[in-house]
Amino acid sequence: MRILVIGSGGREHALAWSIKHNHPEVELYVAPGNAGTASIGTNLSIDPLDFEGIAKAVEELGIEGIVVGPEAPLVAGLRNFIKERFGDKIWFVGPDKEGSQLEGSKVWAKRFMKEMGIPTAEFYVADEGNLNEVVERVAHEWDPPYVLKADGLAAGKGVIIVDNKNELFDIATDMVLNRRFGEASASIVIERFLPGMEASVFLWVDGDSYVLLPTAKDYKKAYDGDKGPNTGGMGSVSPGWLTGYHIAKVKSRIIEPTIDGLLQKNIHYTGFLYIGLMFVNDDPYVLEYNVRLGDPETQAIMPRLEVDWLGMWRDGTFPMREKPDYAVTVILASEGYPEKYEKGFVITGLEDVGREKDIFVFHAGTKLNEKGEVVTNGGRVLAVTALGPRLSIARDRAYEAVEKINFENKFYRTDIGVDLMEKVNA
Ligand code: AMP
Ligand code: GLY
Repeated sequence: MRILVIGSGGREHALAWSIKHNHPEVELYVAPGNAGTASIGTNLSIDPLDFEGIAKAVEELGIEGIVVGPEAPLVAGLRNFIKERFGDKIWFVGPDKEGSQLEGSKVWAKRFMKEMGIPTAEFYVADEGNLNEVVERVAHEWDPPYVLKADGLAAGKGVIIVDNKNELFDIATDMVLNRRFGEASASIVIERFLPGMEASVFLWVDGDSYVLLPTAKDYKKAYDGDKGPNTGGMGSVSPGWLTGYHIAKVKSRIIEPTIDGLLQKNIHYTGFLYIGLMFVNDDPYVLEYNVRLGDPETQAIMPRLEVDWLGMWRDGTFPMREKPDYAVTVILASEGYPEKYEKGFVITGLEDVGREKDIFVFHAGTKLNEKGEVVTNGGRVLAVTALGPRLSIARDRAYEAVEKINFENKFYRTDIGVDLMEKVNA
C-alpha cells in the first residue's frame, strides 16, 4: 500500500509518523516533506499546488491514497481534480472545493452557520460597495472590541481585533480598499467580539458519519503568558480542558447541525474538520472552521492515538483508541519568529532524544544540508512532544527533552500547559 501525504510541516510529520506507526506495511511518500519525513518515507519535491505534478507521481508510483495536511490545495480543488482524473481508484483524505469553503471563505462559512442555526458571533459582511455604510452601522450598534476577518485564506494572519471605533474604520479600509491581504480581504467579515474560553475539537467526517478525535489546546502567542505577536502556534496540550458536559453541547448544537447542513447543501464532506470554539458562560460558539487538522495540535494528538487509519479512510470503519496519557508539545522556533529570523543552523541532540521512550520529535522547518546534517530551515523548527500519566509529568519530560536539543538562536515558550494545571488533575 503506497500513500502520499501532502504538506511539509510538523503536522504532516506527525500524521506520517502515525500512519507508519499504525500501519508499518505502508510505503509513505511525502510532497514536499522535510528532514523528519525523509526518515520515515520518501520526500518528493512537488509543490502542494502543482496538481499535475501530484497526478504524475500518483501514476508513476502507484499511489493508492492521498492524505492532505494543509488547506490551500483543498480550497484550490485538489480533491475534485484527483477524483476527475482517477475516479474511485484513489481514496482521498480532505474535502472537495465546495466543502473547503468552510475555511476558504469566512463569508460563506458565516452565512452557512446563520442559515443552519449554528451559534457564532453576530456579523456583517463588507466590501468596496458598502464599506462605509457597514462600518458606520457596526460602530453605532456595537461597543468595541471588534473582530475583522479577511474572507479568503491569509496564511493564518487574516484576523485583526481592534479596540476602538477609529481603528475599526482605518483597519477595515486598509483591508478592503488597500487589499491588506490581497484579494483575500476584498471582502471582510466584521464580527462581534466574544469574551470567553477558547477550545478546539477535531473530527473525522465522512458524509453523515463522524468520529471525534482527542481534544487539544494550542498556544498561539509568541511569548510566555500569552504575550507578543500571534504565531502559527508555539505549543499544545492534549487532551484540552473540555469535559463530557461541554462535548455533549458541542455535538448537539454544533457538530450535528454542521454535518446536516453540509448534506443539505449536497456536500459530501470527507476529511478532517477542526472547529475553533469560544465558550461564553459554558455555551459554545464557532469562531472558525478549518478543513484540516491543527498545527501543532496534531503533534500532541497523534502520539495519544492507536487508530486504524486505513479502516477510517478507505473502508468507512472508525476503530480508534485514545490513550489516557497527557501529551505536551513544545515548539522550538528560531529567535525572531514570527517576524525576521535566520536559517541554516545545525541541530544537535536529535538522535539521542528521538530514542527516548514516550518522546517524539516532529520536524517542521528543517532540511538536510550537503553534508547530510539536519539544519534549521524555518521559523518553527521542531515540535517536541512528551507523554506522561499526568500533565505535570508530561510537561517535565517535554522540557527535559527540549534542553537536550540545540541550535543557534533556539527559542521557545516555557509555560506550555501551565494554565491547565489548575483545571485538570495535573
Ligand atoms: P480565527 O482564525 O477566526 O479562529 O481567529 C483567530 C483568533 O482570533 C481566534 O483563535 C480567537 O482568539 C480570536 N477570535 C476570532 N473571532 C473572535 C470573536 N468573535 N471574539 C473573540 N475572539 C475572536
Ligand atoms: N493551531 C492553529 C491552526 O492550526 O490553525
